[in-house]
Amino acid sequence: SGSSSSTIVSDAKQTQLLEQAAAQAQPFSRHQAMVTPATRSEFGDFQVNAAMGLAQALQLNPRECAQQMVEQLRPKIAQIMEEPEIAGPGFVNLRFKPSYLTNAVAAMANDASGRLALPAVAQKQKIVVDYSSPNIAKEMHVGHLRSTIIGDTLCRVLEFVGHDVVRLNHVGDWGTQFGMLVEHLRDEFPEALQPSQKPVDLGDLVVLYKAAKKRFDEDDDFKIRAREGVVKLQAGQPEELAAWETLCAASRVEFEKIYRMLNIQGLQERGESFYNPYLKDVVDELKAKGMAVESDGATVVYMEGYTNRDGSPLPMIVQKSDGGFNYATTDLAAIRQRTLLSASEEGGEQADRVLYVTDAGQSQHFQMVFQAAKQAGFVPTNARLEHVPFGLVQGEDGKKFATRSGETVKLKDLLNEAVKIAGHDLRSRNAATTNASYLEQIDRIAQIVGIGAVKYADLSMNRESNYRFSYDRMLSLNGNTAPYMLYSYARICGIVRKGSGQTDDDDDDAAALSSLEWPAAANIVVSHETELELMRNLVKLPDVVAEVERDLYPHKICDYLFETSQKFNQFYEHCSVNQAETLELKASRLTLCVATAGTLRLLLNLLGIEVVERL
Ligand code: ARG
Repeated sequence: SGSSSSTIVSDAKQTQLLEQAAAQAQPFSRHQAMVTPATRSEFGDFQVNAAMGLAQALQLNPRECAQQMVEQLRPKIAQIMEEPEIAGPGFVNLRFKPSYLTNAVAAMANDASGRLALPAVAQKQKIVVDYSSPNIAKEMHVGHLRSTIIGDTLCRVLEFVGHDVVRLNHVGDWGTQFGMLVEHLRDEFPEALQPSQKPVDLGDLVVLYKAAKKRFDEDDDFKIRAREGVVKLQAGQPEELAAWETLCAASRVEFEKIYRMLNIQGLQERGESFYNPYLKDVVDELKAKGMAVESDGATVVYMEGYTNRDGSPLPMIVQKSDGGFNYATTDLAAIRQRTLLSASEEGGEQADRVLYVTDAGQSQHFQMVFQAAKQAGFVPTNARLEHVPFGLVQGEDGKKFATRSGETVKLKDLLNEAVKIAGHDLRSRNAATTNASYLEQIDRIAQIVGIGAVKYADLSMNRESNYRFSYDRMLSLNGNTAPYMLYSYARICGIVRKGSGQTDDDDDDAAALSSLEWPAAANIVVSHETELELMRNLVKLPDVVAEVERDLYPHKICDYLFETSQKFNQFYEHCSVNQAETLELKASRLTLCVATAGTLRLLLNLLGIEVVERL
């Protein structure tokens, strides 16, 4: 019986399995089955809500309808679920059998790969994730931080699920602003215009940008030079190109520092300039298809459903009157390159799905670009383009996020501050420890906790809402925070370390990072309600991951993490592990610890947060 149940775990995700079973129960289609997690745990684990609607459509009695459904369902889910219960007007409540739970959780604990018996997806997709995407010579701001953190998590989840993920950094490295920057460099840093020169130190790029902008706004001669500068750059003149490359290189150094602090890996830079050679083509094709028209010297696309406030049609500009191309033009070229063009001929990605992680302020831009791309045939019909919008980061007072003197906050300072507070906290709480290996690692741990706190605070909010940045809240040991989750993990490690004889007293010499040997899974025996509750929660893991894969809301992972650690606490409050009544019970409870720790570790890692075995 053990092996058959664990096959079920590795064969299908719970909801899918139930949906299939419910759908096969005639006359219900998969869609009509409406399987959802139970609204309250007293009702069971899942519910099927189809009977009421169906009864109405077929003019049947809803409870009879539910009864028929149960007859069909019963044999298909008998291994996993208790006898279905019909409740209220015709809800079908389903509850996991304890035998299923114990086998499934033992299989999770037994998976040495760390995947907790989660199978890789059957249909592998190519998924491009466009995220981070800061702008050259400008400040990388908190919006880019959100994009980076959310984008990185989505990539990790999609990759874990088994997809082929391409991480693209759509850096703003092209456009008219480079004219004024290049001309400013000509006067202030002439060596930067020498082709194949050594790296030039341009100092603070934000200061440089502001100075160039000031001249552009105040000096008409400079403005003319700047306009000519762009044209020369776009024509590939060597001096202008060299100046541009100097700027890109200097910005890249700054971006890299942030990526290193955040442990962002695999992000490829493919900036706006990459698409420059294709922009003219895009506009020509839009014209040929009758989609682009002239308007006041510019070339624009009008689309159904987009109007200004006064009701007049809202144009999407694809070429300005001076001949320059727009942000939207670049995105149209990028869509074609990412979805339509083949890898062998044109270096395309042929992605099945493309995600754009930016602030919600760009929603309309993406809607228009997606619609135009579809209309123009720049994207195959089966490819999915999705904007993944997020809200603003605000100060603790709900106002614009800024320093006390009103300046924009530098990301490096922000991250360093979180690490500093975390380090201070760790040192004060471990003031008495003599554990040498721990003390040696304390800076590294402060990094994990501090950066983890910033990431977790961002990811635990519904990404579409604005959130208030607060060091106090994100570094708190209570509530749904990274420190709380990391402590929960370390505490379970402590229990397992002791229970499996890897140390003999509490204030031990255990290494802080990863030295624990996880005991093999034992047979799980249920002796208390809280053990069942914990297991009912643990087996939801595949559904949580599948939901994030589909809907792209990382806070679902944080909610689940929090719930899991609470279920664990309730279990641990009632069930001693290391003083369990029998050896069998102790081994069983240790297995629950292993499965819980594995769940926390996996999910924290998917959020880009490392775990620590001792804190
Ligand atoms: N550079 C843009 C910004 O800072 C974000 C680019 C997003 N990606 C895209 N394909 N448009 O807002």
